[in-house]
Amino acid sequence: MNVLILGNGGREHAFAYKISQSKKLSNLYIAPGNAGTALCGTNMGIAATDFEAIKNLVWEKDIDMVVVGPEDPLVNGIYDFFKADEVLKDIAIIGPSKAGAQLEGSKDFSKEFMIRHNIPTARYQTFTAATLQEGLKFLETLNPPYVLKADGLAAGKGVIIPETLAKAKKELTEMLANAKFGSASAKVVIEEFLKGIELSVFVLTDGQHYKILPAAKDYKRIGEGDIGLNTGGMGAVSPVPFADTTFIKKVEERVAIPTLKGLQQENIIYKGFIFIGLMNCGGEPYVIEYNCRMGDPETEVVLPRIKTDLLELFEAVANEKLDTIDLEVDERIATTLMLVSGGYPEEYEKNKVISNLDKIKDSIVFHAGTKIENEQVLTNGGRVIAITSFGNSMEEAISKSMKNAEIISYDKKYYRKDIGKDLMKLEKQAN
Ligand SMILES: Nc1ncnc2c1ncn2[C@@H]1O[C@H](COP(=O)(O)OP(=O)(O)O)[C@@H](O)[C@H]1O
Ligand SMILES: [Mg+2]
Repeated sequence: MNVLILGNGGREHAFAYKISQSKKLSNLYIAPGNAGTALCGTNMGIAATDFEAIKNLVWEKDIDMVVVGPEDPLVNGIYDFFKADEVLKDIAIIGPSKAGAQLEGSKDFSKEFMIRHNIPTARYQTFTAATLQEGLKFLETLNPPYVLKADGLAAGKGVIIPETLAKAKKELTEMLANAKFGSASAKVVIEEFLKGIELSVFVLTDGQHYKILPAAKDYKRIGEGDIGLNTGGMGAVSPVPFADTTFIKKVEERVAIPTLKGLQQENIIYKGFIFIGLMNCGGEPYVIEYNCRMGDPETEVVLPRIKTDLLELFEAVANEKLDTIDLEVDERIATTLMLVSGGYPEEYEKNKVISNLDKIKDSIVFHAGTKIENEQVLTNGGRVIAITSFGNSMEEAISKSMKNAEIISYDKKYYRKDIGKDLMKLEKQAN
């Protein structure tokens, strides 16, 4: 099989790494890829959202399957673009249709979907500029903190959680009346704040059948102790100790199955990953959000734990035969630690030489924001390298990643040294 992966982050390197090990693979291409994906296949200088250029590439390289990493091409309808094209319509796309991608593309759509299908989620209402006054009144009925979500895609920056009513009113006004997030905040979802521990569960579906993949917890804030600005993610662990089989069973029965049934009932084509962002509130799952693709850096801990041939799984997704495949999962604990550029998530510099990548033992190095120039690997983004390690305990896995985080070097390297520590504390309390 010839395979094309779209995207250029750590998630896509993890896909490339796994797919390059498949016995079903002939040639692997990544568009646009990074210095890490170049070790697994051939990078092509094409943006993941340039559908015409992707079409030409698929034709030229005789691609059989396209694996879509990020949300943008999905929300822009790459699935529908392929299926509507005479030349492309038989090529397998791993990712949902444009309608399915609305689970991520519109917070309002996804909340309405959850209500329609009785899926547990926080109480909410949606407002527009025309109903701003009602929105301000609705805020008065809630207790702090307040959760305000721009409806559309906002690159992970569209959710604001003000602590006071005055700040919440000011933010709502800025989002609706002053288009703080452009057209993404033309609608704003206001939700009840849920108290609990957050985690993500991933579902792979062919539209008829599904597999529940390993759960993961990520670390979103830049600072240790989970403080400071939000980032794309500073680390992740899988499995999640507080998400035991009882909890995962609840997620399957109350969320995953109703979500898939809901998609079928509404005739929404979905062949790909559903990322279910959850709050565990005293053992009960509530959906925070859906994403229509895998998470980054969660992919860097979830995929390495999957022992089943990834292309076999994807082929079954395309052929609606996922029920014929056994999902084999590595029992060990995987952790990933993200090395970022100094200054990130605010302003940071690029083009720093990364050294000692060849000195890494006992970990898998996934490139997130890197490029090759004159045979040197350079930093090319805020998040630079994800270091994934396995262990029989979380301590063991984390200490391997920590050791290697010291060895890899570039100017202004930064990483959190507390990934997983909260979970280890919880485990100790439980024992
Ligand atoms: N109802 C809620 N209660 C408590 N925290 C929330 C709630 N909704 C969102 N959050 C927090 O805000 C973060 C971002 O919200 P999310 O819906 O995942 O948006 P996005 O990932 O698109 O920015 C979540 O990861 C969670 O920590
Ligand atoms: Mg989220």
